[in-house]
Amino acid sequence: MFKVAVLVSGGGSNLQSIIDSISTGYLKDVSIEYVISDKGDAFALERAKNAGIKTLVIERNAHKQTLSEEIYKVLKGNVDLIVLAGFLSIIKGTLLEEFKNKIINIHPSLIPSFCGKGMYGLKVHEAAINYGVKVSGCTVHLVEEDTDAGAIVLQRTVEVLAEDTKETLQKRILVEEHKALPEAIKLFSENKISVAGRHVIVKE
Ligand code: GAR
Repeated sequence: MFKVAVLVSGGGSNLQSIIDSISTGYLKDVSIEYVISDKGDAFALERAKNAGIKTLVIERNAHKQTLSEEIYKVLKGNVDLIVLAGFLSIIKGTLLEEFKNKIINIHPSLIPSFCGKGMYGLKVHEAAINYGVKVSGCTVHLVEEDTDAGAIVLQRTVEVLAEDTKETLQKRILVEEHKALPEAIKLFSENKISVAGRHVIVKE
């Protein structure tokens, strides 16, 4: 079994897409071992509980400097991949070193546009609309020390329409996120990913 931990901070629609992909059989021999939230009131926790998945809350406010260390203590030796699905805290230290190339994040833009510190959720879509881009999308990437800077695993594009608001664009991009994240997990679980510097190579 390929064991995954999903880290969340909010609504958890991306978590739901992973749960559903396991239920439908798109993800085979994959199990979500833990859902960890840095916020006690994240709706994602309800989704996890409904699916019978172990949940854990490690409050960001109570563990400002030690959050990654606390997560590492729980996950050390217990999972093959860590998935950040709308997780808004920074991953650092031993967790990052020991899970090198085994932590992925989903970001709601085409990196390197509209990403980095402070760029999350609706802010990303607002920035894309304000800039006037014609295409946006989502990116699954490896997690490194710098925010949103790791090598890209895969991207999906979405056309930006003249009448789009940040909310409508977010909605259409989420549809693609819900395909991209399970697809990336599938590639890792089938051992089809190798990393050469900034390049993620996907085996046929
Ligand atoms: C998603 O759009 C995700 O890409 C974004 O937060 C949302 C979480 O939604 N993540 C970031 O902006 C990270 N920089 P969800 O809780 O419904 O999955």
